This record gives sequence, C-alpha cells and structure tokens, in this order.
Amino acid sequence: MTRVRVGTTNQIPPGQVMGFQIRLGRAAGEPPLVIGPASEESPPGTVAVTVVQTKDGDWYGLGGLCTHRPAVLSEGFVEDCQLECPRHGARFDLATGGVLAGPATEAVATYQVVVADDVVYLEIEPSGGAGSGQV
Ligand code: FES
Repeated sequence: MTRVRVGTTNQIPPGQVMGFQIRLGRAAGEPPLVIGPASEESPPGTVAVTVVQTKDGDWYGLGGLCTHRPAVLSEGFVEDCQLECPRHGARFDLATGGVLAGPATEAVATYQVVVADDVVYLEIEPSGGAGSGQV
C-alpha cells in the first residue's frame, strides 16, 4: 500500500468533494502520483479517485467514476453520508461505496484517507487497487 498526496486540508475544506487522476507506478518501486483532475477517459495506467471531506470533518475516498456510466463522481453532490452521481443520480455510501439508489448496481471502490500535518493522502495499491472495497 502506498500513500499518495492529493492535497492539503485547505484545498478540500469541509463539505467539499474533489476528484483526482492518479498515474500508477510504471516501473517497480515507482510510486503512484496525482496527474490532474479525475477524468471520464481514465487513461490506461491511471485510476480516478474521489476525496470527500464532510461538513462534520470526516474524510472518505472512493472510486472516481460512477459504475453506471463513466461519469466523474467528484462533479456530483455530497449530502449526509452519500455521494450522488451528477449524471443520473445514483447514490453511493461514502463509507462503504455501496449503492444506495440506482440506476448504478455496483459499488464503487473505497480508499483509506489519511490526514497528517494538514496534508491529505490516499492509501492506494501501486497497481491501482483500493485500500478496501474494490476497483
Ligand atoms: S452515470 Fe452515474 S447514475 Fe448514470
């Protein structure tokens, strides 16, 4: 498991959601790296992720694309403990990635978020696997 720096707590204030495209390590030992905002195209060798800080200050990491169609989830809406897809309104549980409302039927991946000294990290497998859940 590798920690990927995605930003600072100031960049993702309470109630905000941000999406990142992470380039996976191309060579053995090369760490994953944020290369820009989450993208619907999600080029090979990269993974899209979503990072949420709720209004209560809780942090969550999820897959970056909806499992119904490749919509960028960080363009959606966070309410309570749910993330709503901006395209057709599927809702995902922030903690488990599970589907709370369709049309999506598959959960999104979940990732562990670690905040240390005001820096926000995502725990990710160098191969793109999630800290928990599925990709
Ligand atoms: S693309 Fe997300 S619900 Fe359809």
